[in-house]
Amino acid sequence: MNVWRRLSGRRRAVALAGASALVAGGLVTLPVTAAHAATQCDVAYTTNDWQGGFTANITIRNIGDPLNGWTLGFTFPDANQRVQQGWSARWSQSGRNVTAQNEAYNGNLATGGTASIGFNGSWSGSNPRPTSFTVNGVACNGGTTPTTPPPTTTPPTTPPPTTPPPTTPPPTTPPPGGPRVDNPYVNARGYVNPEWKAKAESVAGGNRISNTPTGVWLDRIAAIEGTDNSQSNGPMGLRDHLDEALRQNAQYIQVVIYNLPGRDCAALASNGELQAHELPRYKAQYIDPIAAIMGDTKYRNLRIITVIEIDSLPNLVTNTTNNPGGTAMCDTVKANGAYVEGVGYALAKLGAIPNVYNYIDAGHHGWLGWDSNFVPTAQILRDAARASGSTTANVHGFIVNTANYSALREPYARVTDSVNGQTVRQSKWIDWNQYNDELSFAQAFRQELVRQGFDSGIGMLIDTSRNGWGGANRPTGAGPTTSVDAYVDGGRVDRRIHKGNWCNQAGAGLGERPRAAPEPGIDAYVWIKPPGESDGSSREIPNNDGKGFDRMCDPTYTGNERNGNNRSGALPDAPISGAWFPAQLSELMRNAYPPLS
Ligand code: BGC
Repeated sequence: MNVWRRLSGRRRAVALAGASALVAGGLVTLPVTAAHAATQCDVAYTTNDWQGGFTANITIRNIGDPLNGWTLGFTFPDANQRVQQGWSARWSQSGRNVTAQNEAYNGNLATGGTASIGFNGSWSGSNPRPTSFTVNGVACNGGTTPTTPPPTTTPPTTPPPTTPPPTTPPPTTPPPGGPRVDNPYVNARGYVNPEWKAKAESVAGGNRISNTPTGVWLDRIAAIEGTDNSQSNGPMGLRDHLDEALRQNAQYIQVVIYNLPGRDCAALASNGELQAHELPRYKAQYIDPIAAIMGDTKYRNLRIITVIEIDSLPNLVTNTTNNPGGTAMCDTVKANGAYVEGVGYALAKLGAIPNVYNYIDAGHHGWLGWDSNFVPTAQILRDAARASGSTTANVHGFIVNTANYSALREPYARVTDSVNGQTVRQSKWIDWNQYNDELSFAQAFRQELVRQGFDSGIGMLIDTSRNGWGGANRPTGAGPTTSVDAYVDGGRVDRRIHKGNWCNQAGAGLGERPRAAPEPGIDAYVWIKPPGESDGSSREIPNNDGKGFDRMCDPTYTGNERNGNNRSGALPDAPISGAWFPAQLSELMRNAYPPLS
């Protein structure tokens, strides 16, 4: 995973063609113009159906004057449709008419604000969606009554779930896991993965960090149940982790959703089990079972933080073959919608669970910090958030630097510095990027995402598991001012040979220990990539995990155009990605910054 993709700053990435913000089956967006009323609303109604039952998620967006209390109304087209159990509103049904009145905590809706509510329902015959909605009696579709018969249900595109649908708490109280808090990390204890903890403690000095929360990676279908016949997974499945989290009295757990069709399209080290055309399998055999487990009411008080699909969507901008070094696989998954639809589906299904917090992966500054990549990536993230029946309301935030090595801050080589009147942006290291560290990138990208239509309350996570860059080689001041290169190379704390290097980097250290709300716009520093788990094997190793051999993990490799034909900088003797690599953990502890005591 985590191939770096460069992306000449001077070359404009071709804008995405096929990825539209589409309205998929089951989503009704009704723009509103209530001519004289100050109330104006926009309602998105999505359902997940199975035989006889369904879950509906509704987002009410206030596009009129601020509301101090609201009542949503709609009429089921079919007499057999019933609301059984709702959440985040007071629900009632009379005949085919349904109303949902705000709860005390979500009655105030500023202009542009949204309320997300939902219910579990039943049907027989068919389950058509309502064709119009009102808020406080004002039609959200401008008052027009449909003259055509209501649409009939589109058949579900995936088989009904084999496990029972998520159940939800009773209607009159807010779901115990919700309403979602703004920042799920604040004052909350994180889940410690016992499998990683045991591995960390097997390395000398590992007990100094082994109680740190790290990500639980569901990197294949079998990981949902747990598997001990792969090199990169242990026997604990998702339920085992969630049960253990309850036992630990943890308040949050971090779960990585990582199994897209045609995964890691620009590299080889983290190719996965699903072929590019296997989107239906991704939905039915991967996301649906995960959603069924996470939706179990047993876990409703646990904040389940999902990190959605590392290193996927930006590849559609920078690593299709119209870019230098692009791959045919990235062309394929762009053309067939596997990534955009897959991420949209994951967001919709998981976002329907009130205690799940979705954070989409958003690359890192050494990939997306160039103008040609920055805005197009924010746009494709938005398109994915609106695909497969999802809305941007399913997105709590984004994560950057997952499993990468970019320094959090570069105190002695700021992108705004200049040397003898020349901007340091023209140094080889920065290469015209607009950013030279991850914190400044994360904050700026957050603003761009809001500009592109995400909620202004989104927060960013930064994976600081391996971006510490301490140890004896850490500079203590700026480099000499003899040239921009001497200045930047002498002062930068990130000691990689090239920013495009991404595999098992020699010299790297543990970064900031996880902590909540460290900086404006940042929900937390987190450890998602578990330190000591390999990024890829340094030579070809046969395996049953679908993992390829990427020469960026081979220390003897002299590079390609994506890393400026430099050496890979990888540690030797590494096992396949995800497998335990104790020498790497020792190296990371030695070079930790802040240092370990
Ligand atoms: C691997 C996964 C692994 C994850 C965490 C990725 O590079 O492809 O198999 O679970 O890293 O170590």
